[in-house]
Amino acid sequence: MILILDFGSQYTQLIARRIREEKVYCEVQPGDSFINKYKNIKGIILSGSYDSVYLNNAIMPDTKIWNLGIPILGICYGMQLIARQFNGKVVPSKHREFGLAIVDILDKENELFLGLNNKETLWMSHGDKLVKIPDNFSIIAKSKNSPYAAITNIKKLLYGVQFHPEVKHSVNGKLIINNFIFKICKAKRDWTMKSYITEEIKKIKKIVNSKKVLCALSGGVDSSVAAIIMYKAIKNQLICVYVDHGLQRLGETDRIKNIFGNIFKENLIIVNAKKLFLHKLKGITDPEQKRKIIGRTFIDVFNAEAKKIENIEFLLQGTIYPDIIESMHLKGSSSPIKSHHNVGGLPKDICFKLIEPIKFLFKDEIRAIGKELNIPLEILNRHPFPGPGLAIRVLGEVTEEKLNILKEADNIVTEEIRKAKLYEKVWQAFAIILPIKTVGIMGDVRTYEYVIVIRVVNSEDAMTANWVKLSHELLEKMSSRITNEVKGVNRVVYDISNKPPSTIEWE
Ligand code: XMP
Repeated sequence: MILILDFGSQYTQLIARRIREEKVYCEVQPGDSFINKYKNIKGIILSGSYDSVYLNNAIMPDTKIWNLGIPILGICYGMQLIARQFNGKVVPSKHREFGLAIVDILDKENELFLGLNNKETLWMSHGDKLVKIPDNFSIIAKSKNSPYAAITNIKKLLYGVQFHPEVKHSVNGKLIINNFIFKICKAKRDWTMKSYITEEIKKIKKIVNSKKVLCALSGGVDSSVAAIIMYKAIKNQLICVYVDHGLQRLGETDRIKNIFGNIFKENLIIVNAKKLFLHKLKGITDPEQKRKIIGRTFIDVFNAEAKKIENIEFLLQGTIYPDIIESMHLKGSSSPIKSHHNVGGLPKDICFKLIEPIKFLFKDEIRAIGKELNIPLEILNRHPFPGPGLAIRVLGEVTEEKLNILKEADNIVTEEIRKAKLYEKVWQAFAIILPIKTVGIMGDVRTYEYVIVIRVVNSEDAMTANWVKLSHELLEKMSSRITNEVKGVNRVVYDISNKPPSTIEWE
């Protein structure tokens, strides 16, 4: 594997993505991890950071890495760590360099730069810079603001680059990473989803043995794939609990029954908790309070169900790699630490051991595994759906009436988006019901009914999003179907706000 030591850069995940795309296994680990913990390392990449290497509390890698004889590529802060180790000098730069820079490649014969042009456009993002080259290193690239844009000590297999080859804007950045992992580290392309499934099943069998595993199945991509891998490994020692809180999309519980009931048979337990959730949400209008109540009630229902089943030893979690990377704790780092609900928010009174079969996978890898495991595309290609479900799309108080109206309207939006062959082209398409009524006219009768909002957005990662310019014909079709077919709605509007400043969800 290629070991990526993370010093807190916002781009660390991208390094892992670029390497995995080449079917090479890599892991992201905290920058100051003990190196002896890891086996079969073919190469090490030191990530960037928010920190400066000359600060007292800057995170440092295990000093053993310098004597392993394994190739090391330092990116930005990573290069500065190399410089510091070998007697170079890093100082705060007068001008913070951020954005695209033209870099002169001085040594095109260097294995790191094979196939590059004399001048390359690469992404820079740094406040510090190298002003004295470390002992026995040579300069292999420079730019206007960075006279030492890349350095190497070939004998020691050490490489440092000031720019970020992992960022898509770096035009030939991928080639530089590939040169490092294949030409310098001699890594093999042996990371396939098939091999992952086989290995994971072996591991699970060994860990679980004859014990039972409990899974909270939501019907989302992650929990579905995790559950099917687990099922392949331990068959009916797996027990899945699906909490029907009534806040799912139309027909969801039947879908779950059809797809998973066939596989898990009597080991799929469906808990009807619709009334309880509605009762707990009665009178609640604040979005954060709704989220908290739903989270807590979910855990209560799940716990009560778990207590009825004997000999459960493990809890299956569909934690995925970005959750792990984002909540990795770095001491001494000034990077913002985000804790994720899957990782940080486990119910404290559940005393199972955790088992997380997809925690080293990115979303696209999970989908690829799902395909290998013959999970229906209906599940694998689904749009993201928030944990609190439709409760945060029923604005204001959640009532059964508004929920039912929303489910119908939302279903029409999805049907029309699918018919227009847009479902897989957009990030999310859904409906929202507003807590107000407006006046309308139907036949000769004045109506006073709810307003439905249609929201369709495109996004890469949900951090930013743009509203989709749907055709007027499609919008009209949705609007007239909703007002004609859904009782209680006399007006439909389309949300034309981007994120930021809006969010994708309305609450
Ligand atoms: P926002 O509304 O913040 O949403 O732009 C970004 C993405 O996250 C989803 N989302 C949630 N997912 N629990 C979740 O599991 C939540 O409370 C939640 N809120 C928003 C949203 O659907 C979008 O894909």
